[in-house]
Amino acid sequence: MEFDTVIHGGTIVTPTESWQGDLGLVGGRIAGLAERLPGGARRIDATGRLVLPGGIEAHAHIAQESSSGLMSADDYYTGSVSAAFGGNSSFIPFAAQHRGQSVDAVIETYDSRAAPNSVLDYSYHLIISDPTETVLTEELPRAFARGITSFKVFMTYDLMNLGDRGMLDILTVARRHGALTMVHAENNDMVKWMNARLAAAGLTAPKYHAISRPALAEAEAINRAISLARLVGAGLFIVHVSTPEGADLVARAQASGLPIHAETCPQYLAFTRDDLDRPGMEGAKYICSPPLRDAATQAALWNHARRGTFESVSSDHAPYRFDASGKFANGAEPAYPAIANGLPGIAMRLPYLFSEGVAAGRISLQQFAALSSSNAARLFGMERKGALLPGYDADIAIWNPEETREVSLADQHDAMDYTPFEGMRLTGWPEHVLSRGETVVEAGELKAARGRGRFVARAPYRPDPNAPVEPELTPALNFGAEIRP
Ligand code: URP
Ligand code: ZN
Ligand code: ZN
Ligand code: ZN
Repeated sequence: MEFDTVIHGGTIVTPTESWQGDLGLVGGRIAGLAERLPGGARRIDATGRLVLPGGIEAHAHIAQESSSGLMSADDYYTGSVSAAFGGNSSFIPFAAQHRGQSVDAVIETYDSRAAPNSVLDYSYHLIISDPTETVLTEELPRAFARGITSFKVFMTYDLMNLGDRGMLDILTVARRHGALTMVHAENNDMVKWMNARLAAAGLTAPKYHAISRPALAEAEAINRAISLARLVGAGLFIVHVSTPEGADLVARAQASGLPIHAETCPQYLAFTRDDLDRPGMEGAKYICSPPLRDAATQAALWNHARRGTFESVSSDHAPYRFDASGKFANGAEPAYPAIANGLPGIAMRLPYLFSEGVAAGRISLQQFAALSSSNAARLFGMERKGALLPGYDADIAIWNPEETREVSLADQHDAMDYTPFEGMRLTGWPEHVLSRGETVVEAGELKAARGRGRFVARAPYRPDPNAPVEPELTPALNFGAEIRP
């Protein structure tokens, strides 16, 4: 075999083991793995380095308007560049349908934002906020046929919240087509009720954001979302789980064989609600939903990452600058409900997970590969990505596991004016990121051209074929053609 590239001498991390050897590439694909491979017009020395599957960022808000119309700071160029510096070879941001919009038009809009700009391969999860009859019966099936095989819904935010009936409709369409429904699970009325009480008491500083969205609001919504998915026999992916209560519900559902999946995010492991109480308006930098919790939560979430309750750790990169274009779009000292929700972190997801996970001895290299790449590829149907195996895309991140560096804004390469990770000392950094065999980032420099990334048509979601069906529910509802839509 004539390899065009050989990555030699590194520790190669496959789903089952790590071993020292060479990886040979042909035409952008992985073509050979062996202790020693000859040849290669291009040889990349990976001695003393880890050779990992390039990260797949499965939760990021890029060139996306929030429900109130605020545009994220990162577009598909800065967003993908920042992701690449953080060890990612591909990403799946959201294409958001706001009320009244046609899904076809939304996809066209995001294609025009992504295709000319992205340096990484990409797809979208479709956010549905308006599941009309046309959306359910025509537009979602069309999106699905183009390889957009995941739909996200919200149980909170007045302009996004679908209600239980809307969720059942989406879950049913998803089940029929083999799409995976993602859900932001927080009880909207609990939050609104808390907001009203806090407002009446004049408690509007950023720290009250955490109080307004209690753990119970997440746990209740997760329990309800799982129940709705069970009713229609659909799979479900719960995004940004932030509480032990919520994670326990997911773990219990998984233990009974249900196709329930979940992620957590670095911010819930790295920060606490005390960060919302920083001086002045600094706490606004840490406003995200669900909110930051406490140290006991962090330990419990790490346990769930280690035992596999979480199949992915995603950034939920939602970049709003610390100025009038972002956090302060509604004034210089807004009450917390008027501050844009979200933290930037697409470049820090993997360095943080590596340092505090692998280097700190909490997770193995195989778990790191699974949480950062392989599981997302499997759940979201990126069939040729997520593993260093023959035939797969040569999406590869070469890491220096020994390097310790202090996080700075300059490391982010995004469009932001702050990083919540500023000053943190992390051990283990990606040095060289390849996408389909092409170098995207090397030694701190961007090597890829704007727009080189390609749209990835994704395969259908296939729940665990061994999962038992629920005897009393499934025959009664008899899914498939009988239940419409
Ligand atoms: O606070 C967050 N997470 N903002 C982004 C939107 C969402 O809820 O994912
Ligand atoms: Zn070699
Ligand atoms: Zn969310
Ligand atoms: Zn999000």
